[in-house]
Amino acid sequence: MNTQGIAIMSSPKTSAFFVMITMSLWFIMLLLRPGLLRAELGTTPNIKHIVVGRCYSYITLVNPSLRYDCEDIWSQFEEAVVRQSSCNVTVEDYHPMFYAMPQTWPCDSFLFWSKTRTLMHSYAAVVRHFWTLEDTLVGYMFNDLIWCGQEQDSGFDFSSCPEWSACRNHPVYSLWRRASQNFAEMACGNITVLLNGSIVNAFNRKSMFGSVELDGLNPHRVNYVNIKVVANLEGPFIESCSQGSIVDLIQILKSRGFRWTCTNNDETLMILQCIQNPKLSSCQTCANSLLLRRSLTLN
Ligand SMILES: *[C@@H]1O[C@H](CO)[C@@H](O)[C@H](O)[C@H]1NC(C)=O
Ligand SMILES: *[C@@H]1O[C@H](CO)[C@@H](O)[C@H](O)[C@H]1NC(C)=O
Ligand SMILES: *[C@@H]1O[C@H](CO)[C@@H](O)[C@H](O)[C@H]1NC(C)=O
Repeated sequence: MNTQGIAIMSSPKTSAFFVMITMSLWFIMLLLRPGLLRAELGTTPNIKHIVVGRCYSYITLVNPSLRYDCEDIWSQFEEAVVRQSSCNVTVEDYHPMFYAMPQTWPCDSFLFWSKTRTLMHSYAAVVRHFWTLEDTLVGYMFNDLIWCGQEQDSGFDFSSCPEWSACRNHPVYSLWRRASQNFAEMACGNITVLLNGSIVNAFNRKSMFGSVELDGLNPHRVNYVNIKVVANLEGPFIESCSQGSIVDLIQILKSRGFRWTCTNNDETLMILQCIQNPKLSSCQTCANSLLLRRSLTLN
């Protein structure tokens, strides 16, 4: 490594920044893989190996203090889904499965989001204490998978599954609905909500956050709802704390007795966006001040 590299690494602040960059790039690479939800396809191949494997990975590596019976969770899952028409799996059908995997999370760490998935992942990776639905056992096990059963058969339908919008009781949707509801009901302390200021209806009553999670939040458990509105750096700037659907969200929070805050330009979130696109003019100020600091460190 050259002297410049050593000088950079010797400042704790800049090395923290480098760790941030490395972690974010890693997450960005993970997210660039194609086809997050291919609704026209059938059940994800090897679903049993994936789900049971992820369960063991979770209880062995991610959170070794947990004691769950992964095989039992899988049987409960299978029980809910197979031998059902592919549009007929309700939230209630998953009750036994969720019963087999109770989980609690530390307060002040709950992160909710809507239409900010990519940024949310980098954010959660950098601010390590955040918990999203994907960090829970159920979220970890079923993330990005597709499944549906078939009425006359004891197996999954690997050739095709209906789209979410095609049925009311979609097996994938029902599971996420229940998981989101659990997650919201458990939320306590300060919670953070990440919304997208570059779209109309950043707060959408039809989204998982607007239709399930918001209603599940309990004003007696939640201390503050801290809303962060984040627009793309290059715009468009459509909604903000004082504009558009976010005003409705704040109104709902007030009427239900929540305390809340709302920020438009969170610094950490803007830096994370700049890491993804450092050439943007709005990132130049940040880049310049880092260059200045680097030259000061060298002297
Ligand atoms: C849907 O499931 C319920 C209960 O499991 C069952 O009674 C009903 O016949 C099913 N309907 C269809 C269309 O498969
Ligand atoms: C906001 O939503 C648009 C459209 O879905 C997406 O392209 C953009 O990346 C989102 N912005 C943020 C900051 O998540
Ligand atoms: C909770 O949020 C409020 C308002 O943003 C803040 O003043 C307080 O310090 C936060 N508490 C914790 C424990 O983070």
